[in-house]
Amino acid sequence: MTDGVDWLADLDRVLLPESVLRQRVRELAQAIAADYAGKDLLVLGVLTGSFVFVADLVRALDLPLEVGFISASSYGKQSASNGQVTVLEGLWPELSGRDVLLVEDIVDSGHTLAHLRQELARRGPRSVAVCCLLDKTERREVPVTVEYLGFSVPNEFLVGYGLDYAGRFRHLPYVAALKAEAYQGKDEQSSEVLDDVGAE
Ligand code: IMP
Ligand code: MG
Repeated sequence: MTDGVDWLADLDRVLLPESVLRQRVRELAQAIAADYAGKDLLVLGVLTGSFVFVADLVRALDLPLEVGFISASSYGKQSASNGQVTVLEGLWPELSGRDVLLVEDIVDSGHTLAHLRQELARRGPRSVAVCCLLDKTERREVPVTVEYLGFSVPNEFLVGYGLDYAGRFRHLPYVAALKAEAYQGKDEQSSEVLDDVGAE
């Protein structure tokens, strides 16, 4: 405890404990391994939110593969995306002829994934599928296909296991819901804290 400040005070409750995440990642990896046997698998994580999920998923995958990352940002406020997605150009690995598995932390409005699927298709891969840990179905604005889904989650702001709030909490080993009062109303009030200027 630093200075008596409880850095977890903004958390409401643990939604997905470590053991539950571990078990589901194992199941997803088994399904993926069965589908990609004999293929040229490139696991492509979306920075920053997917880094923990990718690390656990690839270590559970019993088949040859390569790992890469791309960086996507939606320049809306921190707790909601506005549909304008920017992808850093420099990071794209060569995709032509590869079997690409795009790995995301969470699908919310769907704008990020819909945009990334389009971008991927332009680069000539042999196949594209999406593996996403969490899905807030209730919030969808554009339809997206997710071939491998971890969990459907309620419409609350979630942190941990890669997910952040204003850059914090990514390293929690579980997924937790943030207290509503920790983020509600703040989007309008303090834009220098909440403007999403980095990678998701
Ligand atoms: P979408 O474009 O609205 O589907 O937003 C997807 C992105 O928004 C995700 O990749 C996350 O970076 C971010 N996001 C959406 N919901 C949450 C959440 O509950 N916690 C943390 N990040 C979130
Ligand atoms: Mg993300």
